Amino acid sequence: MARPLQSIHGQWSSRWAFVLAATGSAVGLGNIWKFPYITGENGGGAFVLVYLACLVLIGLPVMMAEILVGRRGRQNPVNSLHSLAIEEKTTQDWQYLGWLGLTAGILIMSYYSVFAGQALAYVFRNFSGVFEGVTADGATSIYNALVSDPERLLAWHTIFVIITSIVVARGVQGGLEKAVKFLMPALLAILFLLVGYAANTGIYFQQGIDFLFHADFSKLSGDSVLTAMGHAFFTLSLGMGAIMVYGSYLPKSASILKMTFAIAFADTAVALLAGMAIFPLVFANGLDIDAGPGLIFHTLPIAFGHMQGGAFFGGLFFLLLVFAAWSSAISLIEPAVAWLVENKEVSRRRASVITGLVTWSLGLLTVFSFNIASEWTVFGNTFFDLLDYLTANIMLPLGGLLIAIFVGRIMSQDSSEKELNIKPQYLYSTWRFLIRYIAPAGIIIVFLNMLWN
Ligand code: PHE
Repeated sequence: MARPLQSIHGQWSSRWAFVLAATGSAVGLGNIWKFPYITGENGGGAFVLVYLACLVLIGLPVMMAEILVGRRGRQNPVNSLHSLAIEEKTTQDWQYLGWLGLTAGILIMSYYSVFAGQALAYVFRNFSGVFEGVTADGATSIYNALVSDPERLLAWHTIFVIITSIVVARGVQGGLEKAVKFLMPALLAILFLLVGYAANTGIYFQQGIDFLFHADFSKLSGDSVLTAMGHAFFTLSLGMGAIMVYGSYLPKSASILKMTFAIAFADTAVALLAGMAIFPLVFANGLDIDAGPGLIFHTLPIAFGHMQGGAFFGGLFFLLLVFAAWSSAISLIEPAVAWLVENKEVSRRRASVITGLVTWSLGLLTVFSFNIASEWTVFGNTFFDLLDYLTANIMLPLGGLLIAIFVGRIMSQDSSEKELNIKPQYLYSTWRFLIRYIAPAGIIIVFLNMLWN
């Protein structure tokens, strides 16, 4: 089967547009909401080190593999894997790996948009000053008023799904590219402002930095390692085809190696900067760092509520969260939308509406898990906990493992060498070694360790 030179329904205007969009996908709730709280729960610096190791040894090689498959296949993940499997004369069942990705994307989007919706609500709550001087109980009741009311939560969830679908409906250049060209610079500007604000806390700023970079290995368990690896996949948007589908809109000439480094560097920098913006405020107000998922929606508003200019900077913080989530959410549904457009001959508009409706409906489960269905638990986990665990800790690493096997072991060396086109040669050999041995072994070891426990 001949490979098309260009995706049938879109192309980035330049390699920079791709880097920006992929960075937009990578930088999301994972960096600003999840990274600080899991770092808090797992003891700080030591966890950061394990996470960085996962990023370099597993994340980077897998990201290159995904971009490679996307650019070579030139279509949505299902079709790309299908046509590359034919090209490599192997079983066409590899297309199911694409399906795993599409499914993971939709599942993640279903709860992602509920949290992004909460962040959106908090933009208004903060700017309006309701947190000024708030007590812990007060912050709890403001949060509960939002999440225990299914109607309110649903309204915010709906708004977020709609704004995401609108961007995707407008296409690669008119929608995705335009959105990230506005969102990413705005996000960076807000982030720097907030780090500057945190720097005003003096010794607490230092304390926050120490917490991020000082390694205390005693708090590290086998489970922390799984969390760190799962997070490396989640934060880089790997294992579900988002980066793959973005790669399919990429011009041929761009260097995959350089772009991958740029994306991973930017993603990590944002996560660390977010930590530097958040931890000092928490310390400065004598609050608890390991508050879990409530760190952002409960602890942080109390901190802002007791600081000079807190209403304004608090509002900005949640705006940052919304911008980050928005540019990620578009990449969560893009694989499914591209699949619909390329296989079912529906317009991009209609495909976005369909995908939006599916994720919206599934999101109801998360919405209700906060209120009317909060009693429904499986082994003590709410529906959201389960979805998060299933997608981030299982589906994404599994997707990554299979991509590593496909690109490292099924695809011929000749194909990957030509597509990556890395000079000097030893860099290609290093990548090949990582993708054939280290990344799969790392993922398998972490999985086995999880089963063992
Ligand atoms: N990388 C995003 C984040 O850190 C989440 C995401 C995962 C987006 C998978 C797309 C694909 O929030």
